This record gives sequence, C-alpha cells and structure tokens, in this order.
Amino acid sequence: MRITGTGHASMRIDTSAGSILCDPWVNPAYFASWFPFPDNSELDWKALGDVDYLYVSHLHRDHFDAKNLRENISKKATVLLPEYPTSQLEDELRELGFTKFFKTKSNEVHELDGGLKVMIQALISPTDGPIGDSSLWIEHDGVRVLNQNDARPTDLGIFAELGHVHAHMLQFSGAIWYPMVYELPESAKTAFGKQKRDRQFDRTWRYIDDLKADHVFPIAGPPCFLDDELWQFNDIFGDEGNIFPDQSVFLSEYAKVGGTNGIVLLPGSVTELSEGEATTTHPTPIDEFFANKKAYLEEMRQRKAPIIEAEKASWRHPEIDVLGELKKRIEPLLEESIYLAKGVGGPVRFDLTDSFGTSGEVIESIVVDFPGKQVRPYADEKVRYRFKTGRALIEHLIHIDEGDWVNSLFLSCRFSAARIGQYNEFVYAFFKCLSEERLQYAEGWYDEHEKAVEAEDTQFGDWTVQRRCPHLKADLSRFGIVDGNTLTCQLHGWKFDLPSGRCLTSVGHKIRAEKNA
Ligand code: FES
Repeated sequence: MRITGTGHASMRIDTSAGSILCDPWVNPAYFASWFPFPDNSELDWKALGDVDYLYVSHLHRDHFDAKNLRENISKKATVLLPEYPTSQLEDELRELGFTKFFKTKSNEVHELDGGLKVMIQALISPTDGPIGDSSLWIEHDGVRVLNQNDARPTDLGIFAELGHVHAHMLQFSGAIWYPMVYELPESAKTAFGKQKRDRQFDRTWRYIDDLKADHVFPIAGPPCFLDDELWQFNDIFGDEGNIFPDQSVFLSEYAKVGGTNGIVLLPGSVTELSEGEATTTHPTPIDEFFANKKAYLEEMRQRKAPIIEAEKASWRHPEIDVLGELKKRIEPLLEESIYLAKGVGGPVRFDLTDSFGTSGEVIESIVVDFPGKQVRPYADEKVRYRFKTGRALIEHLIHIDEGDWVNSLFLSCRFSAARIGQYNEFVYAFFKCLSEERLQYAEGWYDEHEKAVEAEDTQFGDWTVQRRCPHLKADLSRFGIVDGNTLTCQLHGWKFDLPSGRCLTSVGHKIRAEKNA
C-alpha cells in the first residue's frame, strides 16, 4: 500500500485494488483565515484527483474544499459516503458534479472490487464537526490503516477488533478558537492555552495507546494563518500557550512519552507500507524544513496576500439589513428550539464593527435573545455571551445563506468573545444549526441523549456514578478518573463535582453521583 501525503488531513492511498483520495483541502478556508501548512498548492492536483474513490470525512472547510473538488477531482470517482443523519454532504458533493456514491453503513466493513475493504465510522452528535465527523478504516492485502482524521470516537475498540492496525493517522494539534479569541488577560490566555495544548497531546497519546498501531502519522493540522490580524496564532513565537503545535513538535513530545514510531508526511512525501515495514521518502529533508518554518511562513504570507485581499473584497454587502435578515432567519428557529434555547439560557450579543474583524468602530449591536425568542437591537442589558466581529462577515454569511456559523465565522477566529460564567456548548451548537433540518436534528439528539445517559451506573471507590459522560456519552468506566471529589472525563477533559453533580466545565450537563452507604 502506498500513502502519499497531500497536506493537512489529506492523503492519497494507492492499492492494487484501487486508489482513495481523502479530504483534498488546498484553498484557504473560513474567511481566508486557514491555509494548509505546509503549502500544498503546488502539487499536481489533477493527477492526484484522478482516483477510483473519494472520501470526504466531513463538511468542515479544511476537509471539504468545494473549489478543489469541483476543478480537480475526477467525477468518475466513487464517493465513499459516511452514514450521516442529514444529507448535506451528499447534496453538496452532487452539486459539485459527483454522481457515484457508495453509501456506507457506520461501523460495518464493506468489501469493494478487488478485495479492498473499507469501514467508515460516522459520529453524529451535534458537537461532532458540522453535525458529523468520521474515520476511515481500510484493509488490503493484509495491511490495515485507520485514518481517524480529527474525529473523536469514544472508543477505538471496534477498529482494533478487526485486526492489528499498521498505520494510524490522527489529529494532534488544535483546530478551534479557544482561548485566543477570548477577551482575557494575556497571562490567563497563556495558562488556558497551555492546558489545552497539554490536553490535546494527552488525548492523542490515549488514542495511540488504544490502537497500538505499528506506525503513527500526525495529521489534520495545524493550519497556518497568513493574514496580518491572525499572524500571531502561528506557533513560531515560542509561546507555550499556543494551541497549534506542528508535526515536529508532535515528534518531540511523542518521544518524551516513549513514542518512536511517528512518521510525518509533508505534501509529496510517500510511505510504502507493508505488514512488516514502512519506508518513507520526503520531497525535502524534514528537520531542515521545520527548522526554517518562520522564514517559510513569511514567504508564504507574501505570496498569498493577493488571495486574502481578493477574498476580503467579496465579503462586504452593506445594502443588507443585518438586523432584519437575522430576525427573519433566526426567530423562527428560536421559536422551535427547546433544548438549545434553554441550554443557552440568556441573551447573546453581537457587536459589529466597520472592519473585517475586531478592530475599528462598533457600528451596530444586535442581541439574540434566547429566553425572549427574539432578535433585536441591544438594550444595554446583561448578556450571557458577547461576540465582536466585522459587520462585513455577517453580511457575507447572510448573502451566502450560511447555515453553520461555526464552519465559517467562528473557525475563522476573526472575532473576539467574552462570557459571563462557564463555557456554554449550546451557544455554538445553536449557531451551527441555522437551518430547519439541522435544528430539528440537534433538538432530537439532545432529547434522546438526555434519556440515554441516565441509564447505567459505574463505581469509583465510594461513589456510584452514571456510566455515560453527560457530555458525549464516553464510557466513564474507561475514561473517568476521580481525584478527591472531582471526576474528570479524559475524552475531552470535562470535570464534574461529585457531591453536587455540577459540571465544572460547561453549563448544564449535570452528572448523577451518589456516595455509597
Ligand atoms: S465525552 Fe466529552 S468529556 Fe466526556
């Protein structure tokens, strides 16, 4: 089996029974904030795109690149489709011209022509990616690969049961706006960033240890940020609170926990993988490449500046009545929302500036009032969350009728945020469900989830605790650790106070716990 690195989470896998191209992302994503690092735009995408199968793991724009898919990927390719509850991924691929779909069943092995076996696990909670993230398992000629991507399964057991895995590709770096965009003192941001960075690595070690593959490939990040306003997010300033460590940092951190089987793929690197070994060749020496990262990014920044400027020029639509349009689109959803609206529990304010981000004057303040089920001008009140961003970005979201503001505005990091109280996942869940189909799905999921997590128990010393984590149902008998009266679920690091049942990480999500008599 041959694995060719094509940048970020993308790779091409060649076997004698056919080739699969995964997540071919090239063009900047999220309001031109994220670029693939290292740059993969010089690869021969027409040749790479001449494949038998295409796998797009999910709709996040650093995985689903509509422009590249439209222009360069063969429409003869059969799409290996994850089993998602909404049809959006399939619909968007059809719009781009793909017509051949192999609809997989989640967690079922499918045998394709020539004995190529595939299994796709689809994760479907409202907090998994843009409502859906997935991993691809492949077997051919006795060689097994798990492309876990940036998915966060609660358990890799289902893949391990299919036989020893030879190559495990997984995320290790950050892909979120926290804590950088929060209006906090720098020292607090650094402390939170460091915790986040450590937690990302801990989670990665846990997954690696679960699967015990022969070779581990760090993929799916970090992106690079080339716009002046975002430049400081690149991990080139020796900031221990930066959440975007690169592949070379992965290798050194992995070595500290005894890991010696890491393989970094640059765009154009090729690994020949067999049951016994993996041999990798690179287009340029790896150590040298990462040693020159800062100069590399500086050069890329110059080169890509016109692309960013052209994108910015397309965002402004000052003729749009932002308040009126948001009222029209969001109020009917607020009316239907039970779980999400209750979960947010207060007004959320948007301060809109005359720039493309947080600089400049605030020219309009709008409140999405969840308890009052209204969108209206800000009325000098206390709010749950406050976001500050460019009016032009919201104008553009309205213009393109964007139904997922996480997969556009929030991942762009072109905003700042402040909140009263704890993190509230419902705020972001709501703003990724700005369509009828998505909102209904999320509401239904929370309804079922609330009932399901209550069912079984597990024991921690003196405590009887519900077995499933109130966050995303991780099995706490595997992921839970108790220190004093605090239980931590190691899957995403959420903490719970056992005597009161209170979630210490987010609003809501109470845990059921009782001290044994
Ligand atoms: S499942 Fe996310 S912290 Fe437990």
